[in-house]
Amino acid sequence: MKVLVTGGLGYIGSHTVVELLEHNYEVIILDNLYNSRIETLSKIKEITGKNASFYNIDATDFDSLNELFKNEEISSIIHFAGYKAVGESVNFPLKYYSNNLISTINLAKLAIKYNVIKLIFSSSATVYGDGESPFTEIMPILERTNPYGETKAICERILIDTYTANKNLSVTLLRYFNPVGAHESGLIGEVPNGIPNNLMPYITQVAKGIREKLLIYGNDYETVDGTGVRDYIHVVDLAKGHLSALKSNKGGINIYNLGTGKGTSVLELVKTFMNVNNVNIPYEFVDRRPGDIAISYADVTKAKEELNWESKLSIEKMVEDVWRFENQ
Ligand code: NAD
Ligand code: UD1
Repeated sequence: MKVLVTGGLGYIGSHTVVELLEHNYEVIILDNLYNSRIETLSKIKEITGKNASFYNIDATDFDSLNELFKNEEISSIIHFAGYKAVGESVNFPLKYYSNNLISTINLAKLAIKYNVIKLIFSSSATVYGDGESPFTEIMPILERTNPYGETKAICERILIDTYTANKNLSVTLLRYFNPVGAHESGLIGEVPNGIPNNLMPYITQVAKGIREKLLIYGNDYETVDGTGVRDYIHVVDLAKGHLSALKSNKGGINIYNLGTGKGTSVLELVKTFMNVNNVNIPYEFVDRRPGDIAISYADVTKAKEELNWESKLSIEKMVEDVWRFENQ
C-alpha cells in the first residue's frame, strides 16, 4: 500500500510527504526537479527520521511512469506536479497546457490500468474566478481565468469524467486558497524562482533586503483597509488536509476547499509580519494588478464535516515560520 506523491519535492508536496511519513505511510516521490532541489529529500529525512523512495521522472513521460507503476504497488496518488506561475502561463500557454494536462492524463490512465484506489488532485481557488466569497464547492467554476487557471479547471473535468467511466477509482479535488508558511523546523519551505509573483515570498525578499520595497496592488478595494483580502493557509495545515483526504473512506468524486475560512488584507499581513518578526517592510501603493479580485476566502464547512479537518495555525505562526525558514 504505497502512496505516489508527484511533485513531492516541491513546496506543498514536501510538507505533505512529511505528514505521510510521520503517519507511517510508505511514500514514493516522483519529481523532475524543475522547481525543486534534491536536497529537500535529505531535509525530509532529517525531519521525520524516515525514508521516502525517490524517482527523477517527468510525469509527462508515459513510458517511464508506466515502468514505475509496474514495479511498485501504488494504491493512491497525490498529484502535485505541475507549473503554477499565472503570469508565465499567459506568455507560454502551451508549456502550461502540455505539462499540467499531459501529466494528469497519464496518471489517470495508469491509475485505471493498475487499479489505484484513490487519486487526489491539487486544484486551486482560482477556478472560482471573480465570484463572490465565501466560495463554496457547489459554485459553478469559471470558464475563463488564465491558462494556468484553465489547466486546473480542465484537469478537474478530466478527472470527474474519468471517475464517471471508472467508478472503482475514487477522485478527490482539493481547491487550495493561499498557501504560505514553512515547516516549523525551518528545513523546508517555499523557494521561489526569480522575482516572486505572490505576496508572501515578495514580503520576505523585501524583509531580507533583496528587494527595495513591496508594491501593494491597489488600496481602493471595498475591503477593511482598501487592500486585497485573501485566505492565507499554513502549508502544514494544508498538508494535513491531504492526509485527511487520503484517510477518508468516502468513495466517489469529492471536492473540498482547503482554506481557513478567514480573510486577511495585504496591509494586515504586512503589519503582522513586521510586528512578529521585528523587521521593517517598506511599501508603496500602486495600481491594482490586472486580473485580481478584491476578496477571496473559503467556505470550509464541507472539509470540516466530511474530512474532519480544519486549519489550526494562525497568521502570526505563518509569518514566524516563513521568517525562520528564510534565515536558516
Ligand atoms: P512547486 O512548484 O513548489 O511544486 C511542484 C513540483 O512539481 C516541483 O517540485 C516541480 O519540480 C515538480 N514538477 C513540475 N512539473 C513536473 C513534471 N512534469 N514531472 C515531474 N515533476 C514535475 O508548487 P507547489 O506550490 O508545491 O504547488 C503544488 C501544486 O499545487 C501545483 O499543482 C499547483 O498548481 C497547486 N497549487 C499551488 C498553489 C500555491 O499557491 N502554491 C495554490 C493552488 C494550487
Ligand atoms: C495568485 C494567483 C492564483 C493562485 C494563488 C495562490 C494571480 C493573478 N493569481 O492569487 O492563481 O491560485 O496565487 O497561490 O497571480 N499583492 C501585492 N503585491 C505583490 C503581490 C501580491 O499587493 O507584490 C497582493 C495581490 O494584489 C493580492 C494579494 O496580495 O491582493 C495576494 O496575492 P498573491 O499572493 O499573488 O495571490 P492571489 O492573487 O490570491
